[in-house]
Amino acid sequence: MVSIKTVAVLGGTGNLGPFIVQELLSAGFSVTGVTREASTNSTPKFPEGLDIKRVDYTSFDALKAAFEGQDAVVSVVGGPGVPAQKIAVDAAVAAGVKRFIPSEFGINTRNVRGQPIAKIIGGKIAIVDYLQEVAKEHPEFSWTGLSTGLFFDWALERGTLSFNLKDKTASIVDSGNEKWQASNLPQIGKSVAAILNHPDETANKYLGTASFNLSQNELIGVVEELTGVKLAIIHLKSEDIQKAGEEKIAQGDFRAFLDFLRVHNFADGAGNALKAEESANELIGLPYEDLRETVKSWLEKAGVL
Ligand SMILES: NC(=O)c1ccc[n+]([C@@H]2O[C@H](COP(=O)([O-])OP(=O)(O)OC[C@H]3O[C@@H](n4cnc5c(N)ncnc54)[C@H](OP(=O)(O)O)[C@@H]3O)[C@@H](O)[C@H]2O)c1
Repeated sequence: MVSIKTVAVLGGTGNLGPFIVQELLSAGFSVTGVTREASTNSTPKFPEGLDIKRVDYTSFDALKAAFEGQDAVVSVVGGPGVPAQKIAVDAAVAAGVKRFIPSEFGINTRNVRGQPIAKIIGGKIAIVDYLQEVAKEHPEFSWTGLSTGLFFDWALERGTLSFNLKDKTASIVDSGNEKWQASNLPQIGKSVAAILNHPDETANKYLGTASFNLSQNELIGVVEELTGVKLAIIHLKSEDIQKAGEEKIAQGDFRAFLDFLRVHNFADGAGNALKAEESANELIGLPYEDLRETVKSWLEKAGVL
């Protein structure tokens, strides 16, 4: 039976990383923050007193030294750091790390091979492919991938969900009834901690977590009910959004990602809500959260309620 007590977190200074560090600490893991030598933003974002290692991510030896004594490595690096994870995987194996969690934390990248969106997230797909190969060669080493769907509380705060309370409008793709996967950032941190607390059940699996599956219509209904504001609906077609994305990607414009993501989540029949058989919540007993409560607490924080 594998036991994980020490965890190194790469990229713990970004949007998601601090929540993972916090939840790992709360769950009793001994955490080391690994940050790039060249990073300018790390120290203030790590909790006070955390063990921090500054490392050259291009150096196998430096990464191996940073991973010595670590049972697990959790990578939360942002997009530009995704390819750098390959050398981190090699260094983790060499250092005797038992579990590597790569920087996935979005859509389930196992399910989009051959789709236009895969042109943009090919780096993530390649790292999970590589982890599968390495784990076969080194049975003492294992990996877990975690899809989270949309960062829901983060998107609420950034105003990037498809409603606008100032204009009293909301946009709906297709019928608005398709369910999609969404996670609040602390929930993702709790999921990572729960995975590392259940290393045997989660070894060499690509899992998903969610605070909830929701539809666009459910979200609009909750916002309208809590605020008493009636939103004017703008109707959009997923085929138009897909076409716009394909035109962008043909020009090398990676903002196509947002178009593809909307179609992936919202198009009628997309089928990308978190399924019970892929759910870390189901496998290791992690409770789901409540959409209404999440939106209510955001509205209270934003001073709307
Ligand atoms: N599902 C969603 O809605 C959603 C939204 C956003 C992001 N994501 C995903 O979540 C993961 C984390 O994203 P994030 O937004 O938290 O990331 P981020 O804030 O952009 O970056 C996280 C950390 O990565 C490190 N980093 C930056 N550039 C790097 C490079 N070139 N090489 C190595 N490390 C680098 C930095 O840490 P140091 O400076 O300490 O080295 C940075 O603080 C990614 O996989 C991303 O695709 C998902």
